[in-house]
Amino acid sequence: MWTALRGLLKVVGWLVLAATLTANLYLYYYPLLQPAACTWRADSTVRLLAFGDPQIRGSDASSSYRTKLDLYGNDHYLGHIYKTLIGALQPTHVAVMGDLVSSQWIPDDNFYERVQRYQKRIFRPELLPSGTDIINITGNHDIGYAGEVTPERVARYEHAFGQLNFIQYYGAEEKDKYRIVVLNSLVLDGPMGHDRFRQEAWHFLETVVARDQFTGPTILLTHVPLAKPEGLCSDGPYFTYYGEEYGRVLREQNHLTEQTSQRVLDLVFGPGNPHGGVILTGHDHEGCESTYYYKEGRWAVSAGNPAASNATYPGVHEITVRSMMGEFGGNGGLLSGWRYDNEWNFTFTLCRFGVQHIWWASKVLTGVSVGVAVPVLSLLYLGLL
Ligand SMILES: *[C@@H]1O[C@H](CO)[C@@H](O)[C@H](O)[C@H]1NC(C)=O
Ligand SMILES: *[C@@H]1O[C@H](CO)[C@@H](O)[C@H](O)[C@H]1NC(C)=O
Ligand SMILES: *[C@@H]1O[C@H](CO)[C@@H](O)[C@H](O)[C@H]1NC(C)=O
Repeated sequence: MWTALRGLLKVVGWLVLAATLTANLYLYYYPLLQPAACTWRADSTVRLLAFGDPQIRGSDASSSYRTKLDLYGNDHYLGHIYKTLIGALQPTHVAVMGDLVSSQWIPDDNFYERVQRYQKRIFRPELLPSGTDIINITGNHDIGYAGEVTPERVARYEHAFGQLNFIQYYGAEEKDKYRIVVLNSLVLDGPMGHDRFRQEAWHFLETVVARDQFTGPTILLTHVPLAKPEGLCSDGPYFTYYGEEYGRVLREQNHLTEQTSQRVLDLVFGPGNPHGGVILTGHDHEGCESTYYYKEGRWAVSAGNPAASNATYPGVHEITVRSMMGEFGGNGGLLSGWRYDNEWNFTFTLCRFGVQHIWWASKVLTGVSVGVAVPVLSLLYLGLL
């Protein structure tokens, strides 16, 4: 009887160790299993790793132990994806596509507690290749939709995450130069109470972005996707406004308005996108790809990427980056850009880790192996049990 039980214990012990090894190999090497999705284009010089809407939540004194455990696990799950992809891919840029934290309505102490977790547990700057920084993009959960933006919300955002609108130039030689434009799209439409933020964003587009005489491609990074009809992406057109008593300011939007989208495309890319370029957005957690192409003096939009559209001009490819949250699969987005003669091309792939439970399972298995399976197997093989 005891002999049979010992045999069974050995089998179970070894199975637990094998499962632990498999789970940990997956955890640290999952990009190798998806070579097409989790590697850059071979000759790319732009290697931008984009994370969609992490939207980290918070807890307070009244939260249950379960809620706190979930948050702890989620932080480490997101941090694991970030760390693994940074290590495997060595990007030239990292961007988080807005909705960095969840909820524009939280008080300052909760906001800064989340900022701490963002920096220390998830998007740890010390893991980046040297010369690389994390580009943070404003989301509605960070500073609010236009009608909710206040100087206080903006000030704490800037303090924690940097500027709302900025432009950066890269590339050593003239012909290799490209620029990254970060745009606070939440305030472009309004109406809003603190109109100066809307004016600032438009001023930035009109005077900094449109007038710098730049002839290389642009990578536009912004949270709210451009206007598109129902059915192209998961989110359709949608706008709501606060009531009369609040001055009918903008309460929520899925896309920028048609007029704003036309203007942004003209100012950032120029009619017809003569220098090439690409747009990355967030907001729609499902993710999506569309192409804006120039036709009879206006921009029109079609589904999918430029290769699939009929346009004479290449058009501007807009990639709405699928969220990195567990329920959407723990994604990292890889934007590769490369130049050939005077033409630039960009391609995008999604590298998927899987749901949070995979992370939890590997940690629980490791705990069981170290705490139970290894000691029991040792005793069995030493003949002490
Ligand atoms: C983005 O936010 C993180 C976290 O606070 C910070 O470490 C990083 O420097 C910010 N990036 C920029 C460009 O300001
Ligand atoms: C391209 O144009 C042809 C002819 O007008 C049309 O049948 C086809 O559906 C178009 N394809 C796309 C992807 O728009
Ligand atoms: C860029 O992409 C287009 C469309 O997919 C393709 O026809 C062209 O050959 C590509 N150019 C380079 C340099 O790879």
